[in-house]
Amino acid sequence: MAPPLQTVSGKKVPFPDRAKARSCRQAAMNNIRHLTRFDLALSGIERALGTVCGAAVESRPSPAAMTPEPHLEDGERKHAAGLMRVNHTGEVCAQALYDGQAALARDEATRAHLQAAAAEETDHLAWCAQRLHELDDRPSLLNPLWYAGSFAIGALAAAIGDRTSLGFVVETERQVEAHLHEHLQRLPESDARSRAILTRMQTEEAQHAANARARGGVDLPRPIPQLMRCASAVMKAVAYRL
Ligand SMILES: [Fe+2]
Ligand SMILES: [Fe+2]
Repeated sequence: MAPPLQTVSGKKVPFPDRAKARSCRQAAMNNIRHLTRFDLALSGIERALGTVCGAAVESRPSPAAMTPEPHLEDGERKHAAGLMRVNHTGEVCAQALYDGQAALARDEATRAHLQAAAAEETDHLAWCAQRLHELDDRPSLLNPLWYAGSFAIGALAAAIGDRTSLGFVVETERQVEAHLHEHLQRLPESDARSRAILTRMQTEEAQHAANARARGGVDLPRPIPQLMRCASAVMKAVAYRL
């Protein structure tokens, strides 16, 4: 049967389909809920402040949760705290790199991938902060500076292109994995709680590198990996003390 007609501007047209109209209204409402650039900027600032102010909340329990607190001599505790401060700052940098990369990612799937990895890094950040607190110490005073610099580097990598940006993730995570291996050698033997955290992080950083490679990350040309190692050596030397 032909649909009933109505007259609009002198022309006979079908009455609007009510189901279609309902779905158009719903789509319009969904569009209203989409975040504007201003909303995204505010949310980015909120994330940055939360990261540098130590407001990260873990979504998974710390790998150290079931490990008893060891007895540490004063020197051992100070050394473990210095190493865990470096790792905490490393995770602040990881958040900033991923945030900068996600902000300028060209492909929505790449952005979603970066944001998912950043969520796992939030757990690392919270676990390191918690361990630092247990060791009666504090995060690096320069974390806002590390965050700003890392965000800019992440955004720069993303501006070049998604495959370079993913290649940057591969290289960063590989370097972090090697660094964690070194810290596991340097931590006091008895500090099983810090060891449990770093061991889990090491496994997950390797997975982040493999995932970014699988999504198309390319090898970075020389001397970028070498420059990244130099920047990270400066950060580690400063954050151990400050
Ligand atoms: Fe991490
Ligand atoms: Fe990672």
